[in-house]
Amino acid sequence: MRLLTLGGHVGFDSLPDQLVSKSISQGFSFNILCVGETGIGKSTLMNTLFNTIFETEESGHYETCVRLRPRTYDLQESNVHLKLTIVDAVGFGDQINKDERPIVDYIDTQFENYLQEELKIQRSLFDYHDTRIHVCLYFITPTGHSLKSLDLVTMKKLDSKVNIIPIIAKADTISKSELHKFKNKIMSELDRNGVQIYQFPTDDEAVAEINAVMNAHLPFAVVGSTDEVKVGNKLVRARQYPWGVVQVENESHCDFVKLREMLIRVNMEDLREQTHSRHYELYRRHKLEEMGFQDTAAESKPISLQETYETRRKEFLCELQKKEEEMRQMFVNKVKETELELKEKEKELHERFETLKRTHQEEKRKVEEKRRQLEEEKLAFNRRKAAVEAMQAQALQATSQQPLRRDKDKKKTSGWSSIYSLTIS
Ligand code: GTP
Ligand code: MG
Repeated sequence: MRLLTLGGHVGFDSLPDQLVSKSISQGFSFNILCVGETGIGKSTLMNTLFNTIFETEESGHYETCVRLRPRTYDLQESNVHLKLTIVDAVGFGDQINKDERPIVDYIDTQFENYLQEELKIQRSLFDYHDTRIHVCLYFITPTGHSLKSLDLVTMKKLDSKVNIIPIIAKADTISKSELHKFKNKIMSELDRNGVQIYQFPTDDEAVAEINAVMNAHLPFAVVGSTDEVKVGNKLVRARQYPWGVVQVENESHCDFVKLREMLIRVNMEDLREQTHSRHYELYRRHKLEEMGFQDTAAESKPISLQETYETRRKEFLCELQKKEEEMRQMFVNKVKETELELKEKEKELHERFETLKRTHQEEKRKVEEKRRQLEEEKLAFNRRKAAVEAMQAQALQATSQQPLRRDKDKKKTSGWSSIYSLTIS
């Protein structure tokens, strides 16, 4: 590259101004995720931060699972429009099964939506409502003791997906010396467990010094209130107690001002940028790798999207063919098995038929035998019947030839007796 000195004013030094005016006309979006147990002061802090009253609705302690509730507001300060989304993790810390999954899933879904928009043929990223979470304010309960295991597990799960700023909520409920120890304990616990919280950037000279100082103040101990109390002759936002007043914007009372400065005034753009260049990039990379895309092939040779697509297509077709072959083989085996089973059944049936046939023949033979016997008996009976009838006829004939009635009777009697004797014999 050659360095040239210009002879006069050309005008491209107005490029940053063009960028600023374009951004202003486009507007900005900023998305905050509030994670903390029910009633820890999330809504109050949001109202205090943006000096307004957002619609809120108290959550009960009986939610069946953690539910993410996003609410978007259009805010305007001077001529800058901000589309602010506040997402509440409703029911967090109340469940028996303390699962951070819904929060992780919500963050991933916003990344996925953005990725899908990016991958569209006709993209409209210019007016796309970016819902990716730019910062997670993690509300720590002011126990003065140590972090709960739920806090550590949740922050560990979230730290590669979102910029985490830990804050000690309701800091007015903890004494100054306890607070100092509590802050140190929290930081050493986070460090020991490898939880990466958001560090205010120190690479930009303009803000390096203040950001370095603020990094040392983490986690911020904050107090929230929208109530105005008269202190001296001024109305200030504060919490009034029987023993005194805690002023929200008094830096010797709490770190609210530090949080507001860091989150909104100094580092809002860095949070947005980190979300895009670090967390979203990581999600996108994993997702595309999962889909089989890569920048370099074997031996670190660059590979184009087209090549990856072709390779994947071939792999897919090969796999499909293999699957088809497997299914065909399975089908053939099944048919063979069924055939064998059918043959077995047929054999069994044949055997049963043969047995039945044999039994039937045997029965038939017996019945025939019986019939023959009966026929013979019938014949014998008929013969005897005919003999009796013949004898009866003879007797009748003899009787009709006798003249005397007495003799007739006598002969008849003797005739009958001979019939009887014949029948009996
Ligand atoms: P849910 O949305 O229902 O989970 O509650 P939340 O976390 O939004 O808490 P919210 O802001 O509704 O505050 C709950 C209670 O805590 C209210 O009575 C607030 O006045 C009180 N509160 C909020 N911030 C502070 C604080 O900094 N200090 C003290 N002592 N109380 C606070
Ligand atoms: Mg709330």
